[in-house]
Amino acid sequence: MDLTGPIWYPYTQMQTAREPLKIVSGEGVYIKDDQGVDYIDAISSWWVNIHGHANPVIAKAISEQALILEQVIFAGCTHEPAIKLANELLRKCNMPNGKVYYSDNGSTAVEIAVKMAIQYFYNSDKPRTKILTWENDFHGETFGAMSVSDQGGLNAAFTDLMFETIKIPIPKNPDDEETFDKISKIAAGNDIAAFIFEPLVQGAGGMVIYDAEILEKTISIVKKSGAIIIADEVMTCFYRTGTFLATDQINTKPDILCLAKGLTGGFLPLSVTVCNDMIFQGFLSQEKKKALFHGHSYTANPLGCVAALASISLTEEPSFIENLEKIKTILRAKSLSYQTSYPILNARYCGTIFAIDIPTKDEGYFSTQFNEINEYFLERNVFLRPLGNVLYIMPPLVISSEELHYIFQKIDDFIKTIIEM
Ligand SMILES: Cc1ncc(COP(=O)(O)O)c(C=O)c1O
Repeated sequence: MDLTGPIWYPYTQMQTAREPLKIVSGEGVYIKDDQGVDYIDAISSWWVNIHGHANPVIAKAISEQALILEQVIFAGCTHEPAIKLANELLRKCNMPNGKVYYSDNGSTAVEIAVKMAIQYFYNSDKPRTKILTWENDFHGETFGAMSVSDQGGLNAAFTDLMFETIKIPIPKNPDDEETFDKISKIAAGNDIAAFIFEPLVQGAGGMVIYDAEILEKTISIVKKSGAIIIADEVMTCFYRTGTFLATDQINTKPDILCLAKGLTGGFLPLSVTVCNDMIFQGFLSQEKKKALFHGHSYTANPLGCVAALASISLTEEPSFIENLEKIKTILRAKSLSYQTSYPILNARYCGTIFAIDIPTKDEGYFSTQFNEINEYFLERNVFLRPLGNVLYIMPPLVISSEELHYIFQKIDDFIKTIIEM
């Protein structure tokens, strides 16, 4: 990496990293660099892209809106794109009496959810502040979001500055009564304000996939303590797990949902925290101080809202759902075949997410093999960016079967090289 340049890149050890690809354009699942080389964006550019790059329908919606209203303060003012999108999201989330609280990225959607839960109890004069989360969860980059996340390697420098949370292990299976008992005791013995979790897939923690039944059972246990249930669907929303929300695969509705990443189809930063009427009612008062005081400069940006509306309309086309089913079928088949041929890889999938663990000497996020794996796939025109030794695919949802098979062919070749080593 040329250290004389003006940019300090995120999640990058600047001293040892390779030069970033200079991307000049994108189309469909491909991104093109300044040498004219195309790469398949197999991880949807940090999990945001849904309909492919530079999708013309979304691009048109944004450009038309930009000539009408680009941005306006969202306190004391509102606008049609935000109202329309809020109605659409309540419909898609099946929360007809809920409310949509806008912000502009996943971490802030989580901050708002946690604040909503804590202030809900504060406003009712029965304060609760304890937050329950899964071990190994990831919820974002800001201090509140870091506090409710796993506090291992990535956040080690800040551990002393974070507020305390109670971490519970994910039960091994729906019959793991020992762990469910443990959760039950923790929930009953503490005034828990909220349980926040990544539903079905722990993304940044290494694409750890767990059963919907485990989540359903845990929620029903925690709910008995009166805690607010928060599903962090920042990564899982917009069909990543096969359904619009991951929590569409369970019967119990969370009280609060956090959505971001795929919300605008991958075009602009926008996020929402959706809550049910019970939470909203807890903030209504003649006293101004019971309001929720959280807003960002670009909250509910109109361009982001029209991008999200266009993206939602695209997800409702039959061809979108057909392709989604195709992706799910291929990932399921590939996962089963790897489980048989290479059990060591711990192949797994959930909807449109597929992952394997590459056996390395130094496992985990800081695996030194990251650079080699990254390079191997770049040379073969696939942009993968593994999470340490976890190699995963989370493609734009318009990827064709041929493109998906191309990626798997390269993964197959790669596996053969390491198994033979
Ligand atoms: C589950 C989850 N929550 C929150 C975040 C934070 O989102 P953002 O990067 O948009 O702040 C992420 C990001 O990866 C995430 O995966």
